[in-house]
Amino acid sequence: MKVYELAAGGDGLDRLRRADRPMPVPGRGQALIRVRAASLNFRDLAVVQGVYPGPPATGNLIPLSDGAGEVVAVGDGVTRVQPGDRVAATFFQTWADGPPPPGCVALGAAPADGVLAEHVVLHEDGLVHIPQEFSFEEAAALPCAAVTAWNALMAAGKPVRPGASVLVLGTGGVSIFALQFARAAGARVFATSSSDEKLARAQRLGASGLINYRTTPDWEQEVLRLTGGRGVDAVVEVGGAGTLAKSFQAVGFGGKVALIGVLAGRSGDTSPHPLMFKAASLHGIFVGNRRMFEDMLQAMTVNAIRPVVDKVFGFDDAADAYRHLMAGRHFGKVVITL
Ligand SMILES: NC(=O)c1ccc[n+]([C@@H]2O[C@H](COP(=O)([O-])OP(=O)(O)OC[C@H]3O[C@@H](n4cnc5c(N)ncnc54)[C@H](OP(=O)(O)O)[C@@H]3O)[C@@H](O)[C@H]2O)c1
Repeated sequence: MKVYELAAGGDGLDRLRRADRPMPVPGRGQALIRVRAASLNFRDLAVVQGVYPGPPATGNLIPLSDGAGEVVAVGDGVTRVQPGDRVAATFFQTWADGPPPPGCVALGAAPADGVLAEHVVLHEDGLVHIPQEFSFEEAAALPCAAVTAWNALMAAGKPVRPGASVLVLGTGGVSIFALQFARAAGARVFATSSSDEKLARAQRLGASGLINYRTTPDWEQEVLRLTGGRGVDAVVEVGGAGTLAKSFQAVGFGGKVALIGVLAGRSGDTSPHPLMFKAASLHGIFVGNRRMFEDMLQAMTVNAIRPVVDKVFGFDDAADAYRHLMAGRHFGKVVITL
């Protein structure tokens, strides 16, 4: 079967190459999936560049965590899925509910192969059924970015409620899902972007406070101005060390900052004291579990929310999909079909 692998040595996109592997066979409790689509996350750029935290790859690795397809065979003892089912993989294969179990690994980074392959074998517990109305491309957009956004808004700390205000940073995968979920929950959404054109697209999705963080580098002051000095109830913090101090300013009394990303840098000192004075909280987010994924799918179905897929690339053009994400030209998700 056709796969892509990241060669064990070297760094960057030169490591990404086509390969053939034997068809995998599902063992007890496992399902064989014909992958139909896979999506990229910012994380996948870190993996290909060899800067993703975790153990170094000891051999060639199939990249990408997020995929969707159909079950074609199952091993002994499988009860959750059957051949013909349309499914998506969970980011953490063994994290079904509650806290993550010991040894829980994520797909698409050492030591676990990912989904950029015609077929994959996954444990039945690491699969969710996808809504009938979703294409495989849409479903493949969900496992990492959407579950992270859902966790940040609905599972970590106080869930976002009608009338709340939510700030999303940039217009990448996590942030656009967060925009959609916050609007469905009845919240007012503030969005930042480096691009006025992308802000116009965010407005069409329901964002009402639009701030270009290039032309308005003090965007946290603008958030305060737009909220009459109150600040927002939730910040979807995908910037990390480079934006955290501003997010602490932008969050309001009793609000929460969901710490997710590293887009604006990985190191730096940020005093947490602003949180103390306004009884605000900081929540670390690490994607989420299968329960969150399934809750999120219910909410997406009821609210008719469809993933925003920026561009779909063919399997032969997988490297171009990586380049598109690296260039930051996307709005929402970048997908590869198989
Ligand atoms: N902790 C977790 O569980 C978890 C899960 C998923 C993702 N993440 C992290 O969350 C971040 C976003 O991931 P993603 O996959 O959604 O990324 P993505 O789709 O690649 O989004 C990148 C976008 O973020 C915006 N951006 C870049 N630098 C920025 C900055 N300094 N300030 C504000 N916005 C900035 C840009 O939007 P504009 O073009 O609009 O400016 C850019 O297009 C990454 O750091 C990723 O590692 C963490």
